[in-house]
Amino acid sequence: MRHPILFVLLCLAAGGSVGCKGDGSMSSQGVGGGVWGDLSGVRVQRFTLRNGNGMEVDLCDYGAMVTSVRVPDRNGGSVDVVLGFDSIGEYPEKSQYFGCTVGRVGNRIAGGSFELDGQSYSLAINNGPNHLHGGERGFDKYVWNATELLTSRGPGVRFSRSSPAGEEGYPGTLEAEAVYVLTENDELVIEMSATTDARTPCNIVHHTYWNLGGHGSGTVLDETLIIDADRYTPVDATLLPTGELALVDGTPLDFRAGKSIGSDFGAFPANGDDPGGFDHNLCLNGEVGTVREVARLSDSKTGIVMTISTDQPGIQFYTGNFLNGMMGKGGAIYEQNGGLCLETQAFPDSINHRGEAGWSDVVLRPGTDYRHVMVHRFSID
Ligand code: GLA
Repeated sequence: MRHPILFVLLCLAAGGSVGCKGDGSMSSQGVGGGVWGDLSGVRVQRFTLRNGNGMEVDLCDYGAMVTSVRVPDRNGGSVDVVLGFDSIGEYPEKSQYFGCTVGRVGNRIAGGSFELDGQSYSLAINNGPNHLHGGERGFDKYVWNATELLTSRGPGVRFSRSSPAGEEGYPGTLEAEAVYVLTENDELVIEMSATTDARTPCNIVHHTYWNLGGHGSGTVLDETLIIDADRYTPVDATLLPTGELALVDGTPLDFRAGKSIGSDFGAFPANGDDPGGFDHNLCLNGEVGTVREVARLSDSKTGIVMTISTDQPGIQFYTGNFLNGMMGKGGAIYEQNGGLCLETQAFPDSINHRGEAGWSDVVLRPGTDYRHVMVHRFSID
């Protein structure tokens, strides 16, 4: 189930720190970790990955999540481009899936129900009439097992958890992993994988909120985005796909040539409970199962550029519409649209569109591996 490239020279350590000097400080490359706090008596650890170019990534075993990514900017400074909180205690209360690993199935499932092998399954309903992001207590709300790694590509952490059959209504025990590696090419590589002992839908998603101007620097509306997608999945009032795979031509969702996020933002105004803004799945061009570059985000103030490559069929582009001015790291205020998510994934509600043209099969079977690769590459324009 592990990817050969990531694990070639794998694992100097399980448990101890790799890349730490004798005095406990970090060497220029490596991973260091320690206890961050506890949640209801369960110990929570945090880890820092560091490469030789001054890039650093903080990870946490609660939710197998990213809490910070510090990247050099064009002025020689370092900018934290990820929304998060200073203390672990704030996450269960305030986080809107900040930085976490979402599962067993990310995004929405209509009415929380689906059929598999002639049997009906009912999942937890936690978003209007639908199931969202794995249910009431999805993968983001557990402390995962963590192992520090030193791979051929750079330092990393492997998170794993066993999701028992029946959890949130899903069939089969799922053994899930999320592996993070920071490379000398300034890539944050995320690889999600899973196996099961019974047929189950599986679509594990990464949910970091990015702001390349720096977390807390205001909205992301002036950032420039390219998404390589000719089609998207139109949705109903509860954000469920209608089943159509519509062309982006002539719509606000045409990001193929690149444009500022704010330029067509007015096309999705607030309406009742809907706060407005982008919250759409785009159908990525290129071959599913092949890692290819699918998105590019840039900020003109810091000069920071992030590209995303993935093997997945879709990407949820979400502009932090539900952010509500909560206080984040260092007293920063996360106002509405103060961060955006680019969640590579299988299309939302795929389990109820099986066999339809253009939709992928999200059923994981015993003896097969689920695999999802995401590469975030940072550079300066
Ligand atoms: C996803 C969904 C959004 C919202 C966020 C979390 O991106 O598509 O509608 O639920 O997660 O707040």
